[in-house]
Amino acid sequence: MKKLQTDTFFSKVSFLSSSVNDIVAVGPESFYATNDYYFTDFIMRFFEMFFGLKWTNVVYYSPGAVRQVATGFHNANGIAMSNDQRYIYIVDITGHTINIFEKHADWSLTPVKVVQLETLIDNLSVDPLTGDIWTAAHPNFFKLFAYNTEDLPGSEVIRIQNIHSDNPIVTTVYANNGSVLQASSCAAVYDNKLLVGTAFHKALYCQL
Ligand SMILES: *[C@@H]1O[C@H](CO)[C@@H](O)[C@H](O)[C@H]1NC(C)=O
Ligand SMILES: *[C@@H]1O[C@H](CO)[C@@H](O)[C@H](O)[C@H]1NC(C)=O
Repeated sequence: MKKLQTDTFFSKVSFLSSSVNDIVAVGPESFYATNDYYFTDFIMRFFEMFFGLKWTNVVYYSPGAVRQVATGFHNANGIAMSNDQRYIYIVDITGHTINIFEKHADWSLTPVKVVQLETLIDNLSVDPLTGDIWTAAHPNFFKLFAYNTEDLPGSEVIRIQNIHSDNPIVTTVYANNGSVLQASSCAAVYDNKLLVGTAFHKALYCQL
């Protein structure tokens, strides 16, 4: 019986982890994870993108428990938690949005608001002092996948202030055409310094 329960648990974990992209820890042994595709098969993923299906999700994991807590994203990607630990921020990269959810005591999530952005933002980080959201974006998704040394994928760093207010302030703090930094995927600040990471290129360290 114990064995059966363990097998059921792991088959559920594998079913709910079709394509884990990012996680945010919410306890010593628990976390939320985003899946950026619904399908695991390459051809099916092509159709998923082509038809713009909004089937990807966010899953909550803890020892012995796993369940879907949010769905309806084109490609759920970066995920982070607000400094007061009340909200979870979820990127839908091809949907061009950051989705704010309220986190409840039973770990369920309810939608609060959606912030629309222009570029394709990837991972998120939250400034530990101000609560501002820092993220790196891909100005052009196609250039990321069809890598061409003559036409490099660029980089962008975006800061979002007051995301919970009616008028969040979105600032492009850094932008480059690929000559310095290609395919930026995460940005984090600490002590007036900015660190920008990339999907396959180098990292950039800046003084703010
Ligand atoms: C950022 O996102 C990319 C792709 O979406 C992922 O492969 C990578 O592990 C992430 N990096 C961090 C630091 O979260
Ligand atoms: C990219 O930016 C650099 C520096 O700003 C510039 O010298 C270069 O001509 C640009 N390259 C392209 C392809 O636009």
